[in-house]
Amino acid sequence: MTWRLRGAWIEDLHAIMELERATFPDDAWSENLMRAELESEHTHYIVAFPEGDPTDLRGYAGLMMPRGATEADIQTVAVAADARRMGLGRLLVRTLVNTARDAGAHEVFLEVREDNTAARSLYTELGFEQIGVRPGYYQPGNVAAVVMKHVIRRGSESASGGGPESGDGGDPR
Ligand SMILES: CC(C)(COP(=O)(O)OP(=O)(O)OC[C@H]1O[C@@H](n2cnc3c(N)ncnc32)[C@H](O)[C@@H]1OP(=O)(O)O)[C@@H](O)C(=O)NCCC(=O)NCCS
Repeated sequence: MTWRLRGAWIEDLHAIMELERATFPDDAWSENLMRAELESEHTHYIVAFPEGDPTDLRGYAGLMMPRGATEADIQTVAVAADARRMGLGRLLVRTLVNTARDAGAHEVFLEVREDNTAARSLYTELGFEQIGVRPGYYQPGNVAAVVMKHVIRRGSESASGGGPESGDGGDPR
């Protein structure tokens, strides 16, 4: 599968919310929160679709990085259930890290549920390291958040490759 990425538009809100509700049935963001994320001047959201079908949104991801900041935060990543294990999550996260690097970030942070083995494996593979645990961060359920950090190394970028706009799901490292 060859994926194409582009920056998200506010017109993507409906499709993103459909994926959001399907992906996070118990704690989906509200439409208003997602709209604010897409409209913020401090965020970078991307959407993914299969090559040749730009209306078939299969994933999205977002980065928060105020202008001039040297730290960025991955806000969310979601891949449609029927598109998983095809390299799209890797492509989305790698692209956000590259966006942060190009904007001058030194470090990228994120929080992930302790019981989310898929996401934790993905982030670890891409060079994120656990730097802390926040007990009971996710409620209800009383699930801890694992805080992870990716240090951007200029010149030997561990999350580089794949290009910002396309990827075939392979390992471009
Ligand atoms: C986490 C998520 C984004 C991964 O997306 P994906 O497109 O399936 O991930 P990829 O195919 O790019 O996988 C890349 C690597 O991540 C790891 N990985 C991904 N899913 C995994 C799983 N279910 N179990 C173990 N490792 C997994 C593997 O190392 C994988 O490489 P491999 O397929 O060569 O073994 C996807 O499962 C998802 O949307 N989950 C629900 C939403 C979510 O949890 N978002 C993150 C919130 S912090």
